[in-house]
Amino acid sequence: MEYEGLLKLVKKRRSIRRFKPDPLSDEIIDKVIEVARWAPSGFNMQPWEFVIVRKPEFKEKIVELIGEIRPLTKAMETAREPWMGQVWKMTGLVEKEMDYTTAPVYIILLGDPRTNVGLPMFIRYDDGLRRMIYMAGLANAFLYMHLAAASLGLASQWISLTHTGYVQCMIKNILGIPPELEIFDMIVLGYPAIEPPAKLMREKKEMTHFDDCGVADFRSLEEVMEFTKKARNWNIGAHRRKGEKHED
Ligand SMILES: Cc1cc2nc3c(=O)[nH]c(=O)nc-3n(C[C@H](O)[C@H](O)[C@H](O)COP(=O)(O)O)c2cc1C
Repeated sequence: MEYEGLLKLVKKRRSIRRFKPDPLSDEIIDKVIEVARWAPSGFNMQPWEFVIVRKPEFKEKIVELIGEIRPLTKAMETAREPWMGQVWKMTGLVEKEMDYTTAPVYIILLGDPRTNVGLPMFIRYDDGLRRMIYMAGLANAFLYMHLAAASLGLASQWISLTHTGYVQCMIKNILGIPPELEIFDMIVLGYPAIEPPAKLMREKKEMTHFDDCGVADFRSLEEVMEFTKKARNWNIGAHRRKGEKHED
C-alpha cells in the first residue's frame, strides 16, 4: 500500500463508540489478529496473546465488572483541577447501557512479561526501559488491531478500565487466564452504528521541530493547558451518546 492509502486508513481509524449487534465472522476476527501479530516488538519477543470473547455471559460479566468501578473513577474526577472546566459526569444512560455492551466481540490483549528474559541485559536490568519496551510492543499490536478493524469497515474502541487492578484480576479469574499474564487493554469490535465526530487536531507545524530547536520552539505551559482543556472537552463530547446530557 502506498502512502496515500496508508494516510487514508490512518484517518479512517477512529474511536467509534456505538456498535450494531450484528455478529462478526471468524474470518474477520482472524484478519484482525493476523495484522496484529506482525506488529514490531522489542527484540521480536512478540509478548502478546489474544483472547477473543464472544460468549454473552462473559461479555456481560466484563461489563458488570467495569460498571462496578465506574462510580469510583467518576468520584475521582471531582478532584480534578478546577481550571480544566467540566467534570466528566454523564447522565445515567452510560452506566445503565454502555455502548459497547451491544458489540459482538471483545478482544483482550494480554502481555506475557516472562518474555522479558529474552531482552538484552541492559534492558532487563533497567526497570523503566524494560517496561517501556514491553508495553510499546503491546501497544503496537493493539494499534494494529484498530487499524485492521478500520480497514475492514469495523468500529473499534479501547476499554482501558480492563487494565485496572480489580477488573484485571476478576476478568483473568473468570476466563481462566494464568496469573503470570497481564491484561494490556481490551478492544471492542463490531459494525459501526454512528459516524465519529470530526477530530480535534493539533497543528503539524506546532509539533514539528528541526535540529537545534531551543525552548521557544516548544509550547509554553499556558499553551499546553489551553490545548488539554480543549481536548478534554472534545473527548467528553466524543464519548457522549446522542441526546445524552452532561451533568454539571
Ligand atoms: C492508550 C489509549 C487508551 C485509551 N483508552 C480509552 C478508553 O478506555 N475508552 C475509550 O472510549 N477510548 C479510549 N481511548 C481512545 C482515545 O480517547 C481516542 O483515541 C482519542 O480521543 C482520539 O480519538 P480517535 O481515536 O477517534 O482518533 C484510548 C486511546 C489510547 C491511545
